[in-house]
Amino acid sequence: VKVTYVHHDGTRTEVDGKEGDTVMHTAVAQDVEGIVGECGGAMMCATCHCYVDDEWLDAAGERRDGEEDMLDCGAAEVKPNSRLSCQIRLSPALDGLVVHLPEEQM
Ligand code: FES
Repeated sequence: VKVTYVHHDGTRTEVDGKEGDTVMHTAVAQDVEGIVGECGGAMMCATCHCYVDDEWLDAAGERRDGEEDMLDCGAAEVKPNSRLSCQIRLSPALDGLVVHLPEEQM
């Protein structure tokens, strides 16, 4: 499952992720800068904040319970397409997913 992380300066990092892994885990495992994932995916830190590309909003699904509150605690501005990347699991439907990363996570 391909995922493209677009950094704040416009550079892109494309990685191969495993189905079932989260967008956060995939970034951390492959040293993609811009996603920290401090809490390990427990929805407790908001250092995995990302902006889902408009084309992928439907496929990525809705925010989960509690996600919004956590996003509010993060360093970056919350936008309508803000998600915690630890709450997005890769599936074949997300092959080619594009997420944009905020300037800072903490
Ligand atoms: Fe901590 Fe996503 S990794 S909220």
